[in-house]
Amino acid sequence: KRPFGAPDKSLARPVTKVGVVGAGLMASQFALLFVQRLQVPVVMTDIDQERVDKGVGYVHEQIGLLQLKGRLNQDQANRLKALVTGSLTKDAFADADLVIEAVFEEMSVKQQVFAEVEAVVREDCVLATNTSSLSVTEMASKLRHPERVVGFHFFNPVAVLPLLEIVRAERTDDASLATAFAVGKTLKKSCVLVKDAPAFVVNRLLTRFLGEVTAAVDEGTPIEVADRALEPLGLPMSPFVLLELVGPAVALHVAETLHTAFPDRFAVSPNLAKLVAAGKKAIYKWDTGVPVIDPEVLELF
Ligand code: 3HC
Repeated sequence: KRPFGAPDKSLARPVTKVGVVGAGLMASQFALLFVQRLQVPVVMTDIDQERVDKGVGYVHEQIGLLQLKGRLNQDQANRLKALVTGSLTKDAFADADLVIEAVFEEMSVKQQVFAEVEAVVREDCVLATNTSSLSVTEMASKLRHPERVVGFHFFNPVAVLPLLEIVRAERTDDASLATAFAVGKTLKKSCVLVKDAPAFVVNRLLTRFLGEVTAAVDEGTPIEVADRALEPLGLPMSPFVLLELVGPAVALHVAETLHTAFPDRFAVSPNLAKLVAAGKKAIYKWDTGVPVIDPEVLELF
C-alpha cells in the first residue's frame, strides 16, 4: 500500500551511490544503515581527516559487531566495509544519486553545505536533510534546483527506531519525493509524509513532553524523582536518559525553534540552556552500567 501522500513509485530514480555530509555519530549511523540496506557505495565527508577517519572507523566497527553477532559472514562484512569510504572533498559526490547532510543545526551552515554539494552533483541527485526542526523550504531556497531537496528525519538510535519522517518542501518535485520514499522502504523504515512545519510532527510531541518534565525540574523537583515518577508509564527509557540520547544541544535547538514559532505553547528550559552552555553532553555517569546523575549536572541545576 502506498504511504499517504507518496507519489507513484514508478517516478523514483535508482540510487546506486550515496553521499553523507558529516561524519559525526548521526551521520555515521546513516552511513551504516545505507550500506547495510542499499548495498551501494557510501562516501562520507567532513571538515578534517580525523573526523572522516572516525566516522568510517565507526561504520567498520559496527559491521564487525554485526559479524560477531552472526548476522553477517566474513565475505559480506568485508564487502560492506569496502563500500564505505571517506573523502575530504565533496567531489567524491559527483556520481551520487542521493546526498544526505547531518551537519550542525544552523540554517546558514546547512545552506552552505547544500550549495557546495550542488556545485558537484548531477542535476537529478536528491539532496536530503536530517534537520530536526529547521525549514526545509528555506534550506533549499538558494539552490539552482530546489525541487530536488527533501527532509529525511530519522530517530535515534537510527538502526533501531522504525520511523522516518519524509518532508516535502514547497518546491520538492514528485520524482525526488518518490525516490525518498523508495529509499526509505529499502531502509525498512516506516515512512510518513509530513508537512514542512517547525519540528515536523514527532519532535513537537517529544519537545512538549521533555519540556514539561524539565520544567518540573526547573521548579525544584529533583531529576531522579521526575525519572522515577514516570516509570509506571512504561516508557522505553526515562525522560532524562532520553534527553541525553537526543543530546542536550539538539533538544535545546528544537525547543528554541518551537518557542520562536509557537511562543505560547513551547518554553525553553533555563536548566537545559545552562547544561548546553556548560558544554555538557551527558546527564549521567554510566561507569557501573547503572545511570548515576553526574554531580556536575546536579550542581548546575
Ligand atoms: N545503537 C544501535 N543499536 C542499539 C542502540 C544504539 N544506540 N541501542 C540499542 N540498540 C539495539 C540493541 O543492539 C538491540 O538490538 P538486537 O536486539 O538486534 O541485539 C536492540 O536495539 C534492543 O536493545 P536493548 O534490548 O539493549 O534495549 P531496549 O529494549 O531498552 O531498547 C531503545 C533500547 C531502542 C533505545 C529503547 O530504549 C527506545 O526505544 N528508547 C526511546 C528512544 C527514542 O524515543 N528515540 C527518539 C529520540 S528523538 C530523535 O531522535 C529525533 C531528533 O530530531 C531529536
